[in-house]
Amino acid sequence: MRRRLILLLLPVAALLSVSAGFVYVQWSKGGPGSGLYSRYWSPDPVQGYWDPDNFYRSPDSVSGVFDGKLCVQCHEGITPGIVADWRASRHARGDNPVYCSNCHGSDHQQLHMPTPLVCANCHEKQHDAFLDEARYGFPSHVLAMERAVDAPHFADKPKAEVQSCVQCHSVATKCDSCHTRHRFDAAEARRSEACITCHSGPPHPDDETYFASAHGQLYLAEGKNWDWSKPLIKGNYRAPTCAYCHMDGGRHQVAHKSLWKFGLREINPHTSQNSVLRRRWIDLCSDCHEERQATQWLTELDGERKAAWHKLYQAETMLKKLRSDDLIRPSADERPDYPMGSLWPRERIGFFEGQASAFYNVSAIERDYFEMWYFDSLGAYKSAAHGDAAGVREGHRKMAASLDRIESRAGRLRQLAKTAKENELSPDLSGLWSSGAYTDHNREHN
Ligand code: HEC
Ligand code: HEC
Ligand code: HEC
Ligand code: HEC
Ligand code: HEC
Ligand code: HEC
Ligand code: HEC
Ligand code: HEC
Repeated sequence: MRRRLILLLLPVAALLSVSAGFVYVQWSKGGPGSGLYSRYWSPDPVQGYWDPDNFYRSPDSVSGVFDGKLCVQCHEGITPGIVADWRASRHARGDNPVYCSNCHGSDHQQLHMPTPLVCANCHEKQHDAFLDEARYGFPSHVLAMERAVDAPHFADKPKAEVQSCVQCHSVATKCDSCHTRHRFDAAEARRSEACITCHSGPPHPDDETYFASAHGQLYLAEGKNWDWSKPLIKGNYRAPTCAYCHMDGGRHQVAHKSLWKFGLREINPHTSQNSVLRRRWIDLCSDCHEERQATQWLTELDGERKAAWHKLYQAETMLKKLRSDDLIRPSADERPDYPMGSLWPRERIGFFEGQASAFYNVSAIERDYFEMWYFDSLGAYKSAAHGDAAGVREGHRKMAASLDRIESRAGRLRQLAKTAKENELSPDLSGLWSSGAYTDHNREHN
């Protein structure tokens, strides 16, 4: 009888907790910011340009509803650079120009900054491809904005330090990332420089590794003489650019071939699904290389990843052991909990626990592991992916050094704990790290 009751109640409880979860998520998204932590931050005004759908507000200093020609006329004096760029663009050509008003609206007190949906009025094909990318999951251009604002470290850190996240991740919320306004020039987007405003720096050194590769060097040496008006297809270019490889055929997607993705987690590169992705890469390389050679290069990449994960797991095991022996100092519950308190503070170790957001407010040994994982390993991956041999060597040298450092720190922590125990010391450290000027400032100003 009792058992039957429990069996009956189980689905009801499950249903209740699912709906409670749903209500909680909706509630979390209801704050002044956006995303899961919207209640913990509010946007700076500039965010209106990066995420216009959510935050743009039109100025009301100019009133009137204007015809396209009038926009151009007045703005010739107000923003001459914009008008000159527009005049040089495809949009200004022909009998039916695409005027300022087509993209920004005609009522000057109700202007908008165009989202991808506005471009979709005339460029359905690119917009459809762009939206369709969501089916490959993270990372992808179309999901980039939610990924940034849903990362705990976006809400955890002082706003002045993280506002830049939105600038790069705005690749999801407007179409002028690669063909910049107001030229909207396809030729510009074909070149590698179009990507590196965002794709550079330690966690994603695409810029650095590409330009160090044979492809990047050829591009630097000869690229100025190539005819950039040609689409990115076989036969048109001697060496590939970023978009040639990642947006092949002009497809407005970058995730349709990704195996290792960002490189943050270990995958099985040989599932049947991944064989399909691998085939796409090999077909692409075969525009210029022998298929057999391309296959082998990708095998080298898998080998590099295997070696990297071997090192990373060694570090992870050491950290987890320290955690279970309660030796990480300061431990998670000794650190400031702003702005998002946690019911169960816990050191986050490894991909599945959310290590990717653990570069801040952590202990020294966790930070070492974070750098090994987020900077050294990801750098080695991109070097292997892009054919930068020196970068692979450097990344693995750094990982080995980090591993040594973690090992010696772990030894020191154990030694300290042993000494404390022998001398019956148990200092109360709570409160030592959980307040201070930085912490207090953040509590008030995010
Ligand atoms: C009589 C002159 C005049 C005309 C006509 C005019 N503008 Fe403007 N526009 C301005 C001025 C002045 C500003 C700067 C307003 C401010 O900063 O408060 C401006 C600002 C803008 C901005 C920038 C808003 C922002 O938030 O950064 C856009 C976009 C814009 N105009 C588009 C248009 C469009 C589209 C038309 C035609 C429908 C148009 N303008 C017609 C004078 C004009
Ligand atoms: C094909 C669409 C399109 C057309 C046509 C267009 N714009 Fe824009 N404009 C954009 C996009 C995209 C942005 C960037 C939006 C953002 O930052 O959120 C922008 C931004 C702006 C801005 C604010 C940012 C800045 O650089 O100061 C102004 C001002 C502006 N446009 C004026 C104009 C004027 C004037 C014209 C006509 C000569 C015009 N636009 C025509 C798409 C267009
Ligand atoms: C009212 C229609 C219209 C809107 C809205 C529009 N475009 Fe265009 N766009 C055109 C036309 C027409 C061309 C000329 C080429 C063609 O026929 O496709 C063009 C061409 C282009 C090109 C190719 C330029 C080249 O060098 O070959 C790009 C890139 C582009 N648009 C981007 C955009 C973006 C980004 C937006 C939104 C911010 C946008 N367009 C909004 C009509 C539009
Ligand atoms: C305005 C910034 C910006 C520009 C410009 C940009 N990207 Fe990205 N790209 C991003 C961001 C942000 C992500 C990560 C998205 C996420 O968080 O899911 C990303 C992700 C990617 C990915 C990863 C996809 C995956 O499945 O792992 C590839 C590949 C990529 N971009 C290629 C390019 C190429 C090629 C260009 C130039 C033609 C380019 N990007 C231009 C910001 C940009
Ligand atoms: C310089 C541009 C840039 C800045 C600034 C930036 N990102 Fe990114 N971010 C990227 C790119 C590019 C990728 C994708 C790299 C790849 O796939 O190799 C990425 C990837 C990510 C990912 C992983 C995507 C996934 O789905 O796994 C997250 C989460 C993320 N960024 C959040 C943030 C946050 C939060 C900030 C601010 C603290 C930030 N980013 C700042 C460009 C940037
Ligand atoms: C990651 C970089 C990137 C982003 C973001 C991007 N584009 Fe493009 N776009 C390109 C590249 C590269 C080309 C040239 C493709 C080729 O050579 O075939 C291009 C070409 C175009 C063209 C001209 C196509 C042709 O055949 O002439 C249009 C129209 C266009 N893009 C519209 C858009 C729209 C609309 C969006 C937003 C949904 C967008 N783009 C976002 C990189 C980008
Ligand atoms: C020769 C073709 C080629 C060129 C050129 C190239 N890449 Fe890649 N890229 C790759 C390969 C192959 C991988 C590894 C793919 C995997 O793990 O599935 C990769 C991985 C990436 C990733 C991680 C996401 C993914 O697709 O796995 C990003 C982001 C990226 N490249 C961006 C860039 C940028 C930005 C440039 C230009 C500065 C560039 N790439 C130039 C072939 C290329
Ligand atoms: C548009 C043509 C083109 C495409 C596409 C292309 N490559 Fe290349 N690649 C070249 C050229 C040209 C060279 C320099 C000459 C050479 O070494 O064969 C080169 C050189 C290389 C090198 C250095 C060769 C060496 O012996 O050191 C590697 C590695 C490489 N490519 C890998 C790839 C991979 C992997 C892909 C696909 C993801 C790819 N390439 C796609 C044209 C291309």
